[in-house]
Amino acid sequence: MYILGMESSCDETSASIIQAHDGILEIKSNIIASQIETHRLYGGVVPEIASRAHIEAVSSITREALDTAGISLSDVGCIAVTTHPGLIGALLVGVNFAKSLAFANNIPLVSVNHIHGHISAAYLSHTDLKPPFLSVVVSGGHTCFYVCEGYNEFREIGGTRDDAAGEAFDKIGRVIGMPYPGGAALDRMAHTGNADAIKFPSPALRDSLDFSFSGIKTSALNYINSAKQKDEEICEADLAASYTSAIVSAIVKQSEAALCQTGLDTLVLSGGVAANSHLRAALEKMCNKKGARFIVPPMSLCGDNAAMIAASGYFEFEKGNFADTALNASACD
Ligand code: KG4
Ligand code: ZN
Repeated sequence: MYILGMESSCDETSASIIQAHDGILEIKSNIIASQIETHRLYGGVVPEIASRAHIEAVSSITREALDTAGISLSDVGCIAVTTHPGLIGALLVGVNFAKSLAFANNIPLVSVNHIHGHISAAYLSHTDLKPPFLSVVVSGGHTCFYVCEGYNEFREIGGTRDDAAGEAFDKIGRVIGMPYPGGAALDRMAHTGNADAIKFPSPALRDSLDFSFSGIKTSALNYINSAKQKDEEICEADLAASYTSAIVSAIVKQSEAALCQTGLDTLVLSGGVAANSHLRAALEKMCNKKGARFIVPPMSLCGDNAAMIAASGYFEFEKGNFADTALNASACD
């Protein structure tokens, strides 16, 4: 069966065809139209501009996904669309497009949670992966631990109480002049600095699996502002390395505690920040030491994409969780 996935929750319009055969999910196409260059002018995503850009791209992106997969709409057995969480105007574009396509062509429609989509990316890259496993989702809007008890069955066991790790990277990247989103540039710069140069507070909260990233963000801003006031040069590479190290160490510490607490032997990392080279290496090292299996999708499946939405949608389809014309989008989880 072919599944058409559609994603428009933030600043990427994406359509993908995946094929499910004997329980194995295979990507046939995964087309992504990024709006990053447009939003870069404003230093962050402008919701109204994002919605309009989705409207302009959604039809041609879907056509390209079908053409690249070498199939037509009549071959599609299910349409899976991200309905939440995300920017409401942006989500509504994908939801209304998918709804129209599904009902005009009599194709079953399923609703997908964007975070469940990120986790499902791992089923595409590691076809032998089966629940239960521990999942850590680190993205621009989320930093959460879930016990994946079954396909699309999750129990949240910890997470951030304020900002997400991706936001924390982007904020400091922006302050030191990196183009939006600063996460990837900060990652590269961190390789060139001294991670022990500046002491930052740990975002890992004691006696829990939770995080708070607002403290480390403020601490880094204070460091930058106080240097400016004194007319002192800061070493941006040391700042990037120390800041990254504090965030990565906190995620590793809480992940290790979550593995111990749950007794699970597999850790799946996903979300846009899963592309961070320091985080990937540090979590892999911790898992190797503990004898746990570490899984992270390839970079191409870490950021927002529709293949992961199609994968999660397949499990909804299998459960018979179909949507009807009342399907709506929601900004919340
Ligand atoms: O999952 P995603 O594409 O969108 C959301 O669902 O939020 O994640 C985007 C986030 C941004 O904050 C971006 O800066 C961050 O992922 N990101 C990175 C890296 N690549 C992307 N953060 C740190 N290091 C990276 N290499
Ligand atoms: Zn995302």
